[in-house]
Amino acid sequence: MRSVLLGVGGQLPSRVLTNEELAQRVDTSNEWIVERTGIRERRIAAEGEKTSDLALAAARAALTHAGREAKDIDLIIVATATPDLTFPATAARVQANLGVTHGAAFDLQAVCSGFVFALATADNFLVRQQAKCALVIGAETFSRIVDWQDRGTCILFGDGAGAVVLEAQAQESERGVISTFLRTDGRMHDLLYVDGGPSETGAVGKVRMQGNAVFRQAVEHISGAMLEACARAETSIDAVDWFVPHQANQRILDGVARRLGIDATKVVSTVAEHGNTSAASVPLALDTAVRDGRIKRGDLVLMEALGGGLTWGAALVRM
Ligand code: COA
Repeated sequence: MRSVLLGVGGQLPSRVLTNEELAQRVDTSNEWIVERTGIRERRIAAEGEKTSDLALAAARAALTHAGREAKDIDLIIVATATPDLTFPATAARVQANLGVTHGAAFDLQAVCSGFVFALATADNFLVRQQAKCALVIGAETFSRIVDWQDRGTCILFGDGAGAVVLEAQAQESERGVISTFLRTDGRMHDLLYVDGGPSETGAVGKVRMQGNAVFRQAVEHISGAMLEACARAETSIDAVDWFVPHQANQRILDGVARRLGIDATKVVSTVAEHGNTSAASVPLALDTAVRDGRIKRGDLVLMEALGGGLTWGAALVRM
């Protein structure tokens, strides 16, 4: 069996927050942010607009694109670090709002690597025939956990959701998830974390990050994960048509491309418009490049991400 990616969808809140606006709140400038990150603007969820709302809209778009209906879905995984509530899972709410009354739905927490981890998880369910058709969603409202006084982090993050529909199909075609690679190293916990949670503080908390240290880890581990995913598929970086990276910082994207000798025109970048939407960033970038016609059926796509944990990983998919 293969997990074939049938459709992709995205959802962004309508409110745009520009660098200029941020410069009125904290000691920063549009020039600094663009030069150090490539980010020009990000989207911010409206009051009352929840992670599950963004996830639901992205899921519906992905279903339409896939030519499938909600009743076809028997597995929903929502990758998120910003769930609606501590429990139940945001995925349970998405399931109910879609009108799905069978199968399983749960959240997965790997922060910015969440979508790649969720894709690999769903792939295992489908290949083992424990589910037939899965919605894999990355959805975040990071604006709710950003410290808007901290110029080192508040400039980076944005809100949004992206989703894909994966269906188990007999392995006749070349299409589908070909290989995945996941890693966690909990020793780097303190490089990127939220200083609150139900068990430790009883409060939601805010994002804390040693940006420079994360940056140094990112290029090395992301490059390694991409090479490993290719090695597991017995292919090479040169065979990949499109690279869909986690959109953390344009300098990280450029650094990885330089290190692996990748032509910049093959790297999908949405960081300027979306900022870092954590688990939503990879499926949102994928959605952008599928809809504008760059990524076509049959293309070999390599996705990658790194996030809090630290976690990192990559997934190679034939579209
Ligand atoms: N505007 C202006 N100055 C800023 C600033 C901002 N928004 N944020 C930080 N600075 C300052 C710092 O205070 C520091 O000043 P100092 O030298 O007087 O102490 C200076 O800029 C350099 O700080 P540093 O943290 O070394 O900058 P940097 O080049 O590493 O850029 C990040 C900061 C956050 C943009 C960068 O480290 C980064 O993107 N890291 C990766 C983060 C990431 O991807 N996280 C998510 C992973 S999922």
